[in-house]
Amino acid sequence: MAEALRLTGVWLTFPAASGADGSASLDVLKGVDFVAMDGESVAVVGPSGSGKSSLIAVAAGLERASRGEVTLLGERIETYGEDQLAKLRRGRVSMVFQSFHLLETMTAFDNVRAPLEIARLDKVDARANAALDAVGLSARRLHYPGQLSGGERQRVAVARALASDPALVFADEPTGNLDAESGRIVADLLFSIAKDRGSTLVIVTHDTDLAARAGRTVHMRDGHIV
Ligand SMILES: Nc1ncnc2c1ncn2[C@@H]1O[C@H](COP(=O)(O)OP(=O)(O)O)[C@@H](O)[C@H]1O
Ligand SMILES: [Mg+2]
Repeated sequence: MAEALRLTGVWLTFPAASGADGSASLDVLKGVDFVAMDGESVAVVGPSGSGKSSLIAVAAGLERASRGEVTLLGERIETYGEDQLAKLRRGRVSMVFQSFHLLETMTAFDNVRAPLEIARLDKVDARANAALDAVGLSARRLHYPGQLSGGERQRVAVARALASDPALVFADEPTGNLDAESGRIVADLLFSIAKDRGSTLVIVTHDTDLAARAGRTVHMRDGHIV
């Protein structure tokens, strides 16, 4: 089985704020090793500030590692520029965030469809409709995010993330802004659709029930995986 993601000895250091005396640089990731195999689900848990979001950001190429190696879908990305990263991620790597990140001026359907179009996939309308159907929102496809509840918005975000059949999905506290019942529905959808589509899922969560559903859990503390 191939690896979807590998981090080896990854450090993320933010430099001292320029001009401020006495402010030290900040090590957020301190030599992290992490692997996710094709098709598996991994939960990342740990206290607030331990570096979970930073781990995902570096793994997805949203932040550049200060040291170490990041291999995303078989490609070493440390030296990649924005265009190379965008090309690698397009249609193959998706994110789900705590705060939904939907475009307010677009319908649910267009929010799901737009990234498919950008990735130049075929059958974008059919894919978007199928993904909205999979999250139970076919009837709301022409509604705008402002017309949807938090749970419904996150279901649109899940549909958007999974519609391209991505190899890898990163979810950063996807139920963190939801009530328990909506969170359970979103988590069910995320796990079941990722499984159906064979996508690797890396999910950051505070929720121990949610973490227990992943195939494996890693614990972060103070910039380390422990
Ligand atoms: N852009 C940044 N500049 C400086 N410090 C940052 C930045 N982003 C995150 N941090 C710091 O990195 C640490 C880890 O943050 P984060 O990865 O968001 O943790 P978690 O997701 O586990 O709560 C925190 O101390 C946070 O303040
Ligand atoms: Mg976080």
